[in-house]
Amino acid sequence: WTAGAVGLMIAYLLGSIPTGYLAGKLLQGIDIREHGSMSTGATNVLRTLGKWPALAVLVIDVLKGAAAVLVARWFCPWLASQLSPTPPTAAELQVSVPWMVCLAGIAALLGHGRSIWLNFAGGKSAATGLGVVLAMSWPVGLGTAAVFGLVLAITRIVSLSSMLAAVTAIVLVFGLAHPLPYRLLVIAGGLYVIMRHRANIGRLLAGTEPRLGQSSPQLD
Ligand code: G3P
Repeated sequence: WTAGAVGLMIAYLLGSIPTGYLAGKLLQGIDIREHGSMSTGATNVLRTLGKWPALAVLVIDVLKGAAAVLVARWFCPWLASQLSPTPPTAAELQVSVPWMVCLAGIAALLGHGRSIWLNFAGGKSAATGLGVVLAMSWPVGLGTAAVFGLVLAITRIVSLSSMLAAVTAIVLVFGLAHPLPYRLLVIAGGLYVIMRHRANIGRLLAGTEPRLGQSSPQLD
């Protein structure tokens, strides 16, 4: 239990690392939450700070999600074996690790969307979610990334691409053989990512959602 609680805390704190906010502060002395879509995600960094900062934020945000899953998969079992006089058996780990992955993945998504360092504001958890699914199951992760890239290439609308990628992850985790905790993680995470896009859904329906490279006065 202690190892699990420590792992969850680390996963939440990893997700909470305010990459986009730090990029705004360090590069231009601005609070990214006062610009564009107000999100701290890579898309808003792209429209506010430019492509290289956005790429760096994207990569780090994906890595945060993947790291949270690795903490659950490797660090928690190791810590449990150090803390307990009777270390968990391989059979116990086979059951408990997928549940730890599930909870740590959700913790990382919540950390990104509701960062402890940003008064519980943050991004929409799409990049961090991609990192979580890539580390959880690479076929699901690659399929999700492929659909994101495809929709983005066709529409040039990042929010639509993120939401369709979230739906894809849910379809794939059910289509391919995966344990129940992984399925629950992807359903909860996918719905969370879509829910975080509420404002984007409104703009998509109104036809005012900006495309990549388009100026976006309606957001400011
Ligand atoms: O991952 C976030 C993206 O899907 C939308 O970002 O800033 O356009 O709301 P934004």
